[in-house]
Amino acid sequence: MSVTETDEDTATLRGTGVPAIECASLVRIYRTAKLEVQALQGLDLRVAEGEFTALVGASGSGKSTLLGILSGLDSPTAGSVKVAGRELAGLSRRERLAYRRETVGFIWQSPPRNLLPHLTSLENVALPQTYLGVSCKARRTRALDLLETMGVAYCRDRVLGQMSGGEQQRVAIAVALANKPAVLLADEPTGELDSDSAAQVLAALREAGAEHGVTTLIVTHDEGVSGQVQRTIAIRDGRTATETLRPGANGARPAGPGEDPDEHEAFEYAVVDRSGRLQLPPEFTEPLGIRDLVRLTHETGHVGVWPEPGKGAGGPENADGAATADGGSDGGAAGSATRSADDPAGSAQAADERVAGGDRGRPITESGDRS
Ligand SMILES: Nc1ncnc2c1ncn2[C@@H]1O[C@H](COP(=O)(O)OP(=O)(O)OP(=O)(O)O)[C@@H](O)[C@H]1O
Ligand SMILES: [Mg+2]
Repeated sequence: MSVTETDEDTATLRGTGVPAIECASLVRIYRTAKLEVQALQGLDLRVAEGEFTALVGASGSGKSTLLGILSGLDSPTAGSVKVAGRELAGLSRRERLAYRRETVGFIWQSPPRNLLPHLTSLENVALPQTYLGVSCKARRTRALDLLETMGVAYCRDRVLGQMSGGEQQRVAIAVALANKPAVLLADEPTGELDSDSAAQVLAALREAGAEHGVTTLIVTHDEGVSGQVQRTIAIRDGRTATETLRPGANGARPAGPGEDPDEHEAFEYAVVDRSGRLQLPPEFTEPLGIRDLVRLTHETGHVGVWPEPGKGAGGPENADGAATADGGSDGGAAGSATRSADDPAGSAQAADERVAGGDRGRPITESGDRS
């Protein structure tokens, strides 16, 4: 895992602009007669305008639940969710419908679910525009433009059954873009496609992001997708757990000839939520035997996270076994760690918050080195 990056790259990737998607302490509990499932357990997420982002996570981690809420199909049990500056939690039925028609575009995994089977591609793309009162001529022109951008203009007069799965998904992207949404959401859009079709659909999504300036969030299990986006957010147990940033990956263009998209250097980050909670990925905790409790220490420029004595590879006294949240050795990061050591109220949480705030975007490193 790489541990270096430029602040500029990171600032760009983490999106310092207006957030298109902002979730704070989002909770979704499904209640049935017999059981209660906490699908989202206080999820925090921020996606900047124009970002092209992948969402990954084990089955059942809450990805589709999150997309359902962002798309306006479902409501959170608690917490706040804003899309394009609009709070979704308190929308009326009417407002919700308008939101779904105007602000978000959605692409389901299964191609037939995205299109009306008795309409041609052109009619499918024109249809959503009727809800906004667009004239017949303008609907047709925009539909043709979008099919062209998605590389499926030749399918304009075909109905669902006359197209391949990949073609159907590219038409589905055109449908999702028909009303110029601020945000495009896709739940495993390449999940049912072969690798060639999947690559074409991914390229079409990129094209959509670049040409229409739409913020895109794709749920995927496909490493080929997550390896090519600038930012991959991992959900674990209903919370955002880690993020991987790829400064070299340009979400707006496919890999060029001879360019391996998987070769983009990646930096993994752990998300620190508003309460200072931090999830450490198993690849950090397991080798060190970290569980239940850890000791936190102020280090120069980073925070030390140590297994309990006797439970893992040792405490600060035994410098071989630590996971460290490194604030870097230069600039303000080192300063804040030094200040924290001088701060009589310098609690572990305060240290975490420094990592979350001043050094947001710094890499999490695994190190046996205390300095
Ligand atoms: N309508 C529902 N009623 C009850 N439980 C639900 C409902 N929908 C989802 N769940 C539960 O919520 C949790 C999160 O489900 P979700 O569909 O969001 O997961 P996911 O990350 O999309 O998984 P997958 O990768 O398999 O699609 C799971 O434990 C699931 O069983
Ligand atoms: Mg799902």
